[in-house]
This record gives sequence, C-alpha cells and structure tokens, in this order.
Amino acid sequence: MKSYIIKTFGCQMNEHDSEVLAGMLEAVGYRSTEDTSTADLVLLNTCCIRETAENKVFSYLGRLKRQKLSNPAMIIGVCGCMPQQEGMAARLRQLFPYVDLVFGTHNVQQLPVFIGRILAERKPVVEILTEPAEIIEGLPAVRKEGLRAWVTIMHGCDNYCTYCIVPYVRGRERSRKPDDIIREMPGLGSEGFKEVVLLGQNVNSYGKDLTPPLDFAGLLEKLDGVSSIERIRYMTSHPRDFNEKLILTIARLGKVCEHFHLPVQSGSSRILEKMHRGYTREHYLGLIEKIRLHIPKATITTDIMVGFPGEENDDFRATMDLVSQVRFDSSYTFVYNARPGTPAAGMAEQVPEEIKKQRIQALIKLQNTISLENNKAEEGSWQEVLVEGERNNASGLVYGKSRGYKTVVFPGDKTLIGSTAHVTITRAHLAYLEGSLKN
Ligand code: 5AD
Ligand code: SF4
Repeated sequence: MKSYIIKTFGCQMNEHDSEVLAGMLEAVGYRSTEDTSTADLVLLNTCCIRETAENKVFSYLGRLKRQKLSNPAMIIGVCGCMPQQEGMAARLRQLFPYVDLVFGTHNVQQLPVFIGRILAERKPVVEILTEPAEIIEGLPAVRKEGLRAWVTIMHGCDNYCTYCIVPYVRGRERSRKPDDIIREMPGLGSEGFKEVVLLGQNVNSYGKDLTPPLDFAGLLEKLDGVSSIERIRYMTSHPRDFNEKLILTIARLGKVCEHFHLPVQSGSSRILEKMHRGYTREHYLGLIEKIRLHIPKATITTDIMVGFPGEENDDFRATMDLVSQVRFDSSYTFVYNARPGTPAAGMAEQVPEEIKKQRIQALIKLQNTISLENNKAEEGSWQEVLVEGERNNASGLVYGKSRGYKTVVFPGDKTLIGSTAHVTITRAHLAYLEGSLKN
C-alpha cells in the first residue's frame, strides 16, 4: 500500500478540497501518513491570497529537497490556487526542479490519472487548465472532522474586488444543483456528522446560474428539512448580497445557526468604492441593524483590511469607528498586500508598511477589548453546545461550539461527544467561554 501526505495552506475551501483529494487517493489504494521521510506522495494544496501564504509554500518545498534526495521515489506535487496564477507553474518547476506534479484548481479530479502517468513514464506532469470544467459530482471525500462536514455549494467568484486574486485562480461562479447537495446529506448523517458548513466564496449569490433558479434562502429552507442534520452554517457572505429575506429565513429556520460572518473590509465608503465592494458604510450598518432587530442574540464577525491603497487617516478612523459601533464578536484582520495582476496592485498611493503596522495594531487592540466585553456579557447565559472533544485529551474537560460559533469549555467526559449540551456560562475569556452543564 502506498502512503500520502497532503499539506494544506489557506482557507476552508482549500481544507475541504484536500478532503476530496484525500478521498480520491484512498480510492486508489493510498493511505495517509505523517512521515515525510517515507511517504510515497507529498501533495501541497496551496494558497496565494497574500504573499505570506506563498512564502510558506516556498519554504516547505525548500525543506522537502533533503527528503527527496534520500527518498527519490517520493512524488512531490503542488496544486491549488498558487500554480493557477499566470507563470507560476513554470516558476515553481524552475525553483524546485524536484517537484514532479503541478496542477491547478480546475482539474483536481485528474489527480489519480496524473499519478499513474508519473509512475509509468517517470516524467514530471504539469497541467493547468485556464477555464473551469463542468462541476464534477460524486467525488469521494475523507473528512477530517468527525461532527462538522464542510460541503461546497458553489465554486469560484465573480466579484473582482480590486485587491483580491481569488476570481483569477478559482474561476467564474458556478453553483452546485440543490438536488446534488441534498443527496449528500443522509450519508453525512449516517456517518455521524451533526453539522454542515456550506462553502462558497460568496454564498449569498448561490443559484444565480441555476435553472430553475433557487436562491441561498431557498437552499437553506430545503436543507433545514433534512432530518439527519442538526446544525447548518455557511461561509462566506457578501454584505452587498445579504438581504432582508435571507435574515428572516435564518431567523425562522431552527437549524441555521445565528452566526453572521460578514466581511466589511473597510469602514470608509470611499475605500469600499475603490475596493469595488458594491456597498457603502451606511448600507453595511443598516444590514447589521436589521440582523440585530430580527435576531438579537446573533454573533457577528467580520474580515477587515488595513492599508488599502489611498487609505488616509480619516478612512482608517472610519474603520475604527465602525468597529466600535458594530461591536463585532471577533474580526479577522489583515494588512493589505498587493497581489500581482489585481487592479489595486497598480494603484498609486500604496500605504507605507510602517503605517499599515500601526493601524493593524490599533485595530487588533480595539477588537480584543470589544471581543472580551461581548464574551463577558454572555456570563450567566446558557448556550447550546455541540460537544466536539476532550480538551487536552482527558483533562476532565470537554469543548464545543455554541450556536454563535464561540468555543465553550466545561467539565464533562467523552460520552458527551456528539451530543448537544446546555451549558451555563460561568467565565469569559478573549478566545473562549468557560461553563458548566445546566441543571
Ligand atoms: N491583502 C490582504 N488581505 C486580503 N484579503 C483578500 N485579499 C487580500 C489582500 N490582497 C482578505 C480579505 C478577505 C480575506 C479572506 O482575506 O479580508 O475577506
Ligand atoms: Fe475575493 Fe471579493 Fe470574491 Fe471575496 S468576494 S473572494 S474578497 S473577489
């Protein structure tokens, strides 16, 4: 039997793509290993959203050189977003001539064929498709988490935010048919999954390309009726496409969790326009107001970027002010990084690194204060926690997520894993809540 390692970089989409890559490998007789020195295949599923992500891949490949020398039969592959960029496949082969396999995001299903060719011909395979093919259904997946199943509902992105490389490497938006998604559910339920997370770059534009049309609210409605699933989450949303109908649908459906991850990116309408986000600060604040009106207990999180070209002190102040006003439960904060080939990379007025650093530090400080205050406000409340595992392996503590996607830790044993516990919150921390089983 041959062994494989898949090393994943980047977002949840990539994590799930790796589950599918693993599924295909296991279907042709590979088994997973942790040991790079004896593995028959090491596959890097890569990310290119920021330069730091690419640098991680470069240094990982650099470290693999020694292993390849001592184990020359090992196949080293690079796939995912990075090689999908123009010229990158050739650059990878030039920098790391010991890489045997390079493919992109549009031909994952061919992995077993590529490996067969390398083994038969002992020649490197480099295959990048510039256009996405039809969505391939029925590929197996080896899911890493036991309770939470990640399910892709759409591929690609048509938004072309001016800083973002994703549309160039993931292709145009393509929705999976609702029947194909629903058909997966009973199997997930019988494998013990309790929660599904619906994945797409912009799930709120789900279904625009389907005949007959079905929007994201309609899909949620259908999935809420599937008996095998207890909880439904989704990511990522786009504030431009998140409408009141969807808020009302989520408020009504019992299985859809009250967690809203709504990337705002900036609190300045001027910068939002330069980013091509398609909404203003006022629209965003109005949306938050509607969510809080219909779902007062909602957890709201976001992505924010500092240092977009032309961001002045006033723009940054507007971002800080928006954060204070919305009081996000948490934020993923990023320093803008110019990606080659995106419109923003060519904009004048790039912000000096030193200023970006000051801004992100101020932002993180503000967010941490608010996150802790919001968590403290949950002390004394009770939360429905889907128990995922033991903390630090058998410490007498278990952990899981609340419906709002906050980590909750409480005394209990492993028989609770997989069940939904009602937990009273006794103490709040920045990154998690402590509690005890409700009587
Ligand atoms: N530089 C910094 N952050 C970026 N993001 C996307 N592109 C860039 C970039 N060029 C951030 C956005 C997005 C998140 C996934 O990554 O905030 O929501
Ligand atoms: Fe990138 Fe914007 Fe698409 Fe998100 S919506 S993946 S930020 S282009």
